[in-house]
Amino acid sequence: MVTKCVFPVAGYGTRFLPATKAMPKEMLPIVNKPLVQYGVEEAVEAGMRDICFVTGRGKRAIEDHFDVSFELETQIAGSGKEAALEGIRTLMEQASFSYTRQNEMKGLGHAILVSRRLVGDEPFGVVLADDLCLNPGGDGVLAQMARLHAQFRCSIVAVMEVPQEEIGAYGVIAGEAISDDLIRVTDMVEKPDPAEAPSNLAVIGRYLLTPDIFGLIEATEAGKNGEIQLTDALRAQAQQGCVMAYKFKGRRFDCGSVPGFMEATNHCYDTFFKNG
Ligand code: UTP
Repeated sequence: MVTKCVFPVAGYGTRFLPATKAMPKEMLPIVNKPLVQYGVEEAVEAGMRDICFVTGRGKRAIEDHFDVSFELETQIAGSGKEAALEGIRTLMEQASFSYTRQNEMKGLGHAILVSRRLVGDEPFGVVLADDLCLNPGGDGVLAQMARLHAQFRCSIVAVMEVPQEEIGAYGVIAGEAISDDLIRVTDMVEKPDPAEAPSNLAVIGRYLLTPDIFGLIEATEAGKNGEIQLTDALRAQAQQGCVMAYKFKGRRFDCGSVPGFMEATNHCYDTFFKNG
């Protein structure tokens, strides 16, 4: 069983400046709940109760969010307002939270490598909290991936079909179909030229990784902008061992971009809030 989940949250969130000048991008609310809480709920639902954050400077609000707010809670104790904290309180009881820092922004691969000591030698989930994944009435995306991992025992990346004009913004896979929703990955390219993309299947911010990925990240050279790409380590893993790509069930919103964030906000308001 996979019990650990890594949340790389060291990024600057420049697309949301000035909102993210003093506040982590992951704390931006979709209506009344921060993005990161949706991600942690999804991890806990998948049985991953050890939450490992890879943070950076200016991310303290995330630690405070998953801690008791003594003054506030004393102030509203016994009032109707307490109910609004039930969800986060339950989550805090269900999960444990650890933090480590990425001192330099050297890419997603590097951020994952920084979590090595917290994760140890076991498979683990990865959530990029700015991808909001919802599957109302069914299992969350990480839970779907955990089931597949139990069956195949290899790394799994969540993928979705995207139009050609958008494919250049993603890691893109090539592979052999095993079933309607499962592909054995043979190659992977980060942000390809759309004309040369190996498929229309883009990797989104949900991964389930086997721990040999750490050694592969260590062996990965930094790319053109000095960043160590997780995609490069995954390509090596796919070629030496096994990586599966899974067309998940549910809907994903790119909340790292303003249009995706607005779409998620409108969707969640209409679905969960408008009618109480
Ligand atoms: P992004 O590049 O989408 O996030 O990285 P960003 O840099 O925060 O956003 P913009 O582009 O400036 O608006 C994807 C994820 O990887 C994490 C980010 O926090 C984000 O969740 N990340 C990226 C790290 O933790 N460390 C890194 O060095 C790079």
